[in-house]
Amino acid sequence: MKPKIFVTRIIPEKGLEMLRLQADVEVWPDPSPPDYPILLQKVKGIDALLCMLTDTIDGSLMDAIGPQVKVISQFAVGVDNIDITAATRRGIPVGNTPGVLTDTTADLAWALIMAAARRVVEGDKFTRSGKWKTWGPIDFLGRDIYGATLGIVGFGRIGRAMAKRAQGFDMRILYYSRRRHPEAEQKYCAQYVDLDTLLHESDFVSLHTNLSEETHHLMNATRFKKMKSGSILINTARGPVVDPPALYHALASGTIAYAALDVTEPEPIRPDDPLLTLDNIIICPHIGSASHKTRGKMALMAAENLIAGLKGERLPNCVNPQVYTASR
Ligand code: DGY
Repeated sequence: MKPKIFVTRIIPEKGLEMLRLQADVEVWPDPSPPDYPILLQKVKGIDALLCMLTDTIDGSLMDAIGPQVKVISQFAVGVDNIDITAATRRGIPVGNTPGVLTDTTADLAWALIMAAARRVVEGDKFTRSGKWKTWGPIDFLGRDIYGATLGIVGFGRIGRAMAKRAQGFDMRILYYSRRRHPEAEQKYCAQYVDLDTLLHESDFVSLHTNLSEETHHLMNATRFKKMKSGSILINTARGPVVDPPALYHALASGTIAYAALDVTEPEPIRPDDPLLTLDNIIICPHIGSASHKTRGKMALMAAENLIAGLKGERLPNCVNPQVYTASR
């Protein structure tokens, strides 16, 4: 009998094809994710789960699946929706998709920097509204990107991909992360500074940290006050890294000039969220990795992790390798 797997959304076909060769595959067919109570029902008795960042995968869900489960494979690099400690305690390896989405996500962060700095979205709305009557010498003045200072918070794969792009724009590059990365510093001509200095000196602050207890609301009212006047905040990491009311206040009061977000708290942002009333913000619907090529690669990688887990092999990309060594 083939093993049973549940896939919580429709993913690119090449990933599903790989899975169907190995298992009986049930795919949640709706564009919206299954609610938690439905997910609890759907996963009962499966051998492996392929899930998304929109699913809450906690200890109770793992217990609902049952002790036969061999692997949980996430279709994303970030795994903050999964209780990794609970999975490790139960000996369940968890896979993710690092690396393949680095440049695609950095491209989107760059698109947001440029769109915010040069007021691209406002300009488009203005044109469509029929208000464009003539060329204006003092209209739509924005900020230069070339030669400005970019502050990168979190200097992992995506943070470094941002530094690489910034070099092409002759930017001064500052970074802050939990620890220094001397080799990457040299390679990307980036200077390590503490977070206060980064906020104080950067024209653009781009967030590239994981979401953890430490980074939850990292950008709060106190930190917004430390940002340079006229500066721009970009968030393509996770919504809760930024405190939404503090961001609203910083934008509405002019403490910072602009924000461009690909992620919000909550997701989706509520239609009555005050941030949506502001003109100096751009909000995208979490599309950092959304290119045809990259989503295809993510589907293959998630399928490979899942199949390795089903076979009892080490996952090619495992976020809790302790499951292979720890005596539980
Ligand atoms: C991730 O992989 O964590 C992104 O947020 C979605 O691609």
